[in-house]
Amino acid sequence: MSDEREAPEVAIRRVDGREEIEACARLMAGSEPWITLGRTYEEAILMFGDPARGVYVADLDGAVVGFLILRLEGAFSGYLQSVAVAEECRGRGIGSRLVRFAEERILRQTPNVFLCVSSFNDRALALYRRLGYEVIGELRDFVVSGHSEILLRKTIGPMRGFRPPSDRRKE
Ligand SMILES: CC(C)(COP(=O)(O)OP(=O)(O)OC[C@H]1O[C@@H](n2cnc3c(N)ncnc32)[C@H](O)[C@@H]1OP(=O)(O)O)[C@@H](O)C(=O)NCCC(=O)NCCS
Repeated sequence: MSDEREAPEVAIRRVDGREEIEACARLMAGSEPWITLGRTYEEAILMFGDPARGVYVADLDGAVVGFLILRLEGAFSGYLQSVAVAEECRGRGIGSRLVRFAEERILRQTPNVFLCVSSFNDRALALYRRLGYEVIGELRDFVVSGHSEILLRKTIGPMRGFRPPSDRRKE
């Protein structure tokens, strides 16, 4: 198992411009689980360019080696929609770092982080479990027939009484 402390020095920042959106879309459309889920490059371009989503990239020496899509609004606010790392950079702690970045961002405004993982994506599910996520449901035949999306949640407490960590530090 990789150790996040030994991860290469990546900067996690907002996606910047068309070229980076295209790099993210290539990574998504060329990788599992999205190949099995039928996500096309064109659909990915629309997704990465959608201002309603928070798109962040992992930048390693100026190259985009990973991405993260966040949804902070909606029914399940605090939804980590997608995360990926370029194949040649996997297993070095970058993915864990992206997830931690998303958690820090989400937990500033809500005590829950939600995400879905495809039922065939065993290694990603193992990673999320190690990072403290709990399975809370199964959405059968949700994106494609024959596969489920597994809904996961990580929480720091109930919504009633939630205060952002920054408020708590002031006491
Ligand atoms: C899942 C993913 C983002 C993790 O990024 P990473 O930088 O490899 O993660 P880390 O180095 O922090 O942790 C490694 C762990 O990630 C998981 N992982 C590694 N390669 C993976 C792969 N190809 N697919 C899915 N999970 C993988 C494993 O649990 C691995 O631990 P292990 O080596 O003990 O099996 C990355 O592997 C990836 O982009 N996979 C393809 C896209 C994907 O599955 N995204 C998640 C969709 S919900």
